[in-house]
Amino acid sequence: MSLPESITDEGGDTHGNAKLIVPPTRRNLARAGRLIREGKLIVFPTETVYGLGGNALSDHAVAAIFEAKGRPRFNPLIVHFHDVGSAAAAAVFDQRARLLAETFWPGALTLILPRGPACPVSLLASAGLDTLAVRVPAHETARTFLAEAGRPIAAPSANPSGAVSPTAATHVAASLNRAVSLILDGGACPIGIESTVIDLTPAQPVLLRPGGITVEDLESVIGPLASSAAEAESGADATRPISPGRLGAHYATKLPLRLNVRDAQAGEALLSFGPHGLSGFAAERNLSPSGELREAAANLFAMLRALDQPRFKRIAVMPVPETGLGLAINDRLRRAASSRRN
Ligand code: TXA
Ligand code: MG
Repeated sequence: MSLPESITDEGGDTHGNAKLIVPPTRRNLARAGRLIREGKLIVFPTETVYGLGGNALSDHAVAAIFEAKGRPRFNPLIVHFHDVGSAAAAAVFDQRARLLAETFWPGALTLILPRGPACPVSLLASAGLDTLAVRVPAHETARTFLAEAGRPIAAPSANPSGAVSPTAATHVAASLNRAVSLILDGGACPIGIESTVIDLTPAQPVLLRPGGITVEDLESVIGPLASSAAEAESGADATRPISPGRLGAHYATKLPLRLNVRDAQAGEALLSFGPHGLSGFAAERNLSPSGELREAAANLFAMLRALDQPRFKRIAVMPVPETGLGLAINDRLRRAASSRRN
């Protein structure tokens, strides 16, 4: 935090590590905040692991995070806030949530809460769910970075999908470097494992991922936690994401979906992609008129919701290429199409 400004490495405009990794001086933190507001991605240290951060209010920035991670599906992301007050503007805190926040924040605890009625956070960050993962980190650099950005930051661990979480700036893989504008080097992460994730939306809180705050500590504040099926299956593996099956119900649209359409059927709403000559639909939203996958990912959940209206018979979906972010888009569409409600 206190290297003299004169040796500040301005970096960031080349893709060599030496230029990209910078000390968290006041000037670099201000610059990181500015880059976040411009929609860029920043790797930053937290007390648990390094995060790959983007503006949580921007669908485009969040789509860029998924693109950089190379995840084959949209797992919901943790949204980092500077303080409890700003988190409370996005998610609904009940008594238990308030108690946990008071006791463990700032710190290595993530709470899954209902999205608030005026939640400004990107639907893509929640992967279309009605819930939000919220955390107020304790690391001094993370806190200053959040203050400089002036908005919440969505951040998964800064590793490519399937790799272990980085606990030092130099761990951030070369494959991610190309997508990030700056890596703030805060040294080794003091805790070194991810935050504990608990779901407070059921009557009995559920442990979704063991992590930096122990179950015993949590239970001493809010009583017994139920453990999720995913946790029981994975044993001590703290890095395993929660089972997609558990999220399955939430991923469904109310209307059935018809995929890979090339023609219209009566009463259908069309979710299109790229330029096309299809007509005869009751309504249409285009994921990306120019055929860009990042734009399509950014629009996916909001457009699905917009078309998921009882006045339509079905949502017809044009083909989306099976490359890059198209994999995650198609995964989401296929799961919605095969849900039992169809
Ligand atoms: O320590 C940490 O938590 C780090 C630092 C950067 O904060 N972040 C992190 O993020 O580990 P990530 O994306 O690698 O893991 C987030 C976990 C995933 O298992 C995800 O499924 C779960 O949180 N999660 C996020 N939002 C959720 C939601 N709305 N409902 C259920 N689970 C959620
Ligand atoms: Mg992770």
